[in-house]
Amino acid sequence: MQSRTRPPERPPRTHPPTPEHPVSYKLTFDGRELPAQEGQSVAAALWSAGILAWRTTRTNGAPRGAFCGIGQCYDCLVTVNGRPNQRACLLPARPGDTVTTQEGTGRAALED
Ligand code: FES
Repeated sequence: MQSRTRPPERPPRTHPPTPEHPVSYKLTFDGRELPAQEGQSVAAALWSAGILAWRTTRTNGAPRGAFCGIGQCYDCLVTVNGRPNQRACLLPARPGDTVTTQEGTGRAALED
């Protein structure tokens, strides 16, 4: 019989926090400042702040957030730093990111 063992400890950080790579930082969502941690996806940062929906559907404007969490369903599309259709579940959050709710295809702001 195989004995159960604990998984190995996470390795220590290999680099100290710097202004370019801080451990925790801020991003904004629809103008609201939110905390984020190094390694979080945009979706994880939004969830941590209690935000569950950040997009509306094209046809009837129904709210959507993350569904699969692994980049397959595209329910989590969001606009980040002016770029629409970013998958929030895959996109790493970065210091100072400006995240905005995506309405429909997210292209209305680009068609001016
Ligand atoms: S939650 Fe499914 S692609 Fe992001």
